[in-house]
Amino acid sequence: PAEISRIRNISKVQFGKHDLFPWYFSPYPEAFGMEDVMYICEFCLGYYGDFKSFSRHRTKCTLQHPPGNEIYRDESVSFFEIDGRRQRTWCRNLCLLSKMFLDHKTLYYDVDPFLFYVMTVRDDKGFHLVGYFSKEKESADGYNVACILTLPQYQRKGYGRLLIQFSYELSRIEGKLGSPEKPLSDLGLLSYRQYWGENIIDLLVGFNERDDRVTIEHISTALAMTPQDVEHTLGALRMQIYHRGEHKIVIPEKLILQWEKQKTKKRRVIDPSRIQWKPPV
Ligand code: COA
Ligand code: NA
Repeated sequence: PAEISRIRNISKVQFGKHDLFPWYFSPYPEAFGMEDVMYICEFCLGYYGDFKSFSRHRTKCTLQHPPGNEIYRDESVSFFEIDGRRQRTWCRNLCLLSKMFLDHKTLYYDVDPFLFYVMTVRDDKGFHLVGYFSKEKESADGYNVACILTLPQYQRKGYGRLLIQFSYELSRIEGKLGSPEKPLSDLGLLSYRQYWGENIIDLLVGFNERDDRVTIEHISTALAMTPQDVEHTLGALRMQIYHRGEHKIVIPEKLILQWEKQKTKKRRVIDPSRIQWKPPV
């Protein structure tokens, strides 16, 4: 019955050198829910119910990075682009894995219409999965992200921000304005709000103080964000005022102080000049 099958089914996953404790149900074959531990190969994302068959697999698996083109590399991370149609099994396995940390419905089966942008960190053993976002090849609604995930062992370290920045850099290269698919999860919303707010303030601080002609359209174009997301962010941060018959964008003192404090933290960022990518035709 659907109600029962939605209950978290996997209690523990061994993934590379990490143990993962799933948050939500994921439709792995039912037999896997009977095991104490499920083993997932961190490179091919294949899953095993017992250590023996997993070990046998590990002696044979030759994959050391996600099965696609490396389209970005800097000192800390790499991004790979993977076509759901060409790497169906791998992408389905990625969706199964990520469903353990996503509450709402996600695709698992029909991965063909999607591209997957997978972020990794490197060491001498290979390129280890940190997180990813998926993107529809053709989005009727102009979404630049369908699903986005940082694996729990890497959360709250700034990787989500990198994924979000990367999605907007791709939109910029495409000459489009992007927005994530709705609804966002609570964590998704927190992360996007933070990204949007900080980038809008970055931009405004860069503008000439006396130049009050900055508009929602300026911000939208500069950041490859939709005007709706800009407006939403300005509203949430109380940055829009109506003064002498005119709408104006202002930065409240409190936000400036917060922003200055943020700037003192060392931050991971994507260097757009290192992206080697052309929009797929
Ligand atoms: N509590 C409060 N704020 C949070 C937060 C949390 N648990 N997680 C993220 N944020 C906010 C913070 O402002 C943070 O900046 P800060 O750490 O400087 O304060 C900002 O978001 C970015 O955090 P970051 O470390 O870059 O994000 P992340 O790597 O943890 O990834 C998600 C964010 C959303 C991808 C991650 O939480 C995730 O995968 N969640 C499960 C899947 C999901 O819900 N995806 C979105 C579906 S729409
Ligand atoms: Na993180």
